[in-house]
Amino acid sequence: MEMEITREEKEKYLSETEKVLESCGNHREKLIPVLQQLQDKLGYLPGVAMEKVAGVMDIPAVDVFELATFYNQFRLHPPGEHEFKVCMGTACYMVGGETTMESFQRKLDIEEGETTPDRKFSLERVACVGCCTLAPVVVVDDKIEGHVTPTRVDGILLSYENSGTNNTSGVNSDENKNSK
Ligand code: FES
Repeated sequence: MEMEITREEKEKYLSETEKVLESCGNHREKLIPVLQQLQDKLGYLPGVAMEKVAGVMDIPAVDVFELATFYNQFRLHPPGEHEFKVCMGTACYMVGGETTMESFQRKLDIEEGETTPDRKFSLERVACVGCCTLAPVVVVDDKIEGHVTPTRVDGILLSYENSGTNNTSGVNSDENKNSK
């Protein structure tokens, strides 16, 4: 699901894309460095920027999207205000990392690699973060949360839900699920 962007964001993304293309060059072999620089500047690869790159490089847009999807280094959704990175290293996986991931997906109503529509939370899987004794581990922004079983997911989400200034969230709590 493509994230909606404002007109201001679109203008900013297009102007940054032009600058990157000017500095890197617009030949096809520069596609990966151009996408890398765009992500560095914009935090992710917006569709409108990839379409611009495709047009200038004279490459079918679908090829640029496929390449961006193929490489893990590229993100297709903007980072959330809070980023949940669920460890899927062997130790975490063995003690239920996948179930923890599913729990975040269900509560946030997004898939891994996505961001909630209000951009408050994003969800990713990561390789071992080096704290295997705390498995299953979730890194929230830069903070390590250990022993994150599904029963702890609600509490973690609530603490970040209440930490920001924006009180509208994508968290799918049992209360608002029941009210649908
Ligand atoms: S496998 Fe998750 S911290 Fe090492």
